[in-house]
Amino acid sequence: MTIAPVQRTASLGSSAWTDARLIMALEEVVEQELNRHLKVAKDWMPHEFVPWSQGRDFEGVLGGEAWSLEQSQVTPLGRVALVVNLLTEDNLPSYHHEIATMFGREGAWGTWVHRWTAEEGRHGIAIRDFLLATRAVDPNELERARMSHMSEGFESDNSHSMLHSVAYVAFQELATRISHRNTGHHAGDPLCDQLLAKIANDENLHMIFYRNLLKAALEIAPDQAMRAISDVVTDFRMPGHGIPGFERAAAQIAIGGVYNLRIHHDDVLQPVLRHLKVMEVSGLGPDGLQAQDELGVFLGGLDAQATKFDERQAALLARRAARQAAR
Ligand SMILES: [Fe+2]
Ligand SMILES: [Fe+2]
Repeated sequence: MTIAPVQRTASLGSSAWTDARLIMALEEVVEQELNRHLKVAKDWMPHEFVPWSQGRDFEGVLGGEAWSLEQSQVTPLGRVALVVNLLTEDNLPSYHHEIATMFGREGAWGTWVHRWTAEEGRHGIAIRDFLLATRAVDPNELERARMSHMSEGFESDNSHSMLHSVAYVAFQELATRISHRNTGHHAGDPLCDQLLAKIANDENLHMIFYRNLLKAALEIAPDQAMRAISDVVTDFRMPGHGIPGFERAAAQIAIGGVYNLRIHHDDVLQPVLRHLKVMEVSGLGPDGLQAQDELGVFLGGLDAQATKFDERQAALLARRAARQAAR
């Protein structure tokens, strides 16, 4: 795909880098990354991962069988994580609004925004079809949670800054990949695992797109990009934080090993930061250096917090195992 390239703006002092200038300066990189993405992304068919033959009518209009817990074949942890992941995917209209407003709908940026939205749309469709056909979760509760969650909408913590937005999605796409992947491993259903691996693969390609864009931003506007990375890492929240009952679900997901501080530090933050070589970026001005320092201090603290969490998790799991053995 070729989209008329926009001339890169010559190197500017950090104060001159407005969002509009950055969007123009990065257009060429967006086009390259979009073309690379389209070459490696393989289309896949969500309906092929749904065991339709297991499906049957629910109570209500068709007078079928009401849902009950014993019909669900996935693990209790899988059930909680699948619902959080699906509701997170469900808020796609709000995410589309956020990135279309920030990146625009023109040129390579616009093509990416629409392509990304189409790929993300597949995730919610596939997971919902799977959950309903296999009766993995209560469909009434799921629908009420979707209505409540989507009615709140999603507003990014980073909509004040284009670079903060790019930094956030680079980490968030990887977080989503890991969350889907680990949910699949813990769901106790091989087909569910296969479906979530497919979705996780899409999320990984999204992460690579944004990570490469962030790398280019570090080259053209190092101080502002470093500030954005530092702010985003030190204040990171998952996009599903507004889901009803999120705190309780997040605690179960953390203890169960689907997503927790250790995973966030080791499998999400560190791989992106290492790839960007953030601690080795040189030629920074005072604000960039300060942001780099803040990031280093924060990561040290997070690692220590993650170690405390690991200990609490091990103790809790040992107590649970002992209780089970005593029964
Ligand atoms: Fe997704
Ligand atoms: Fe994604």
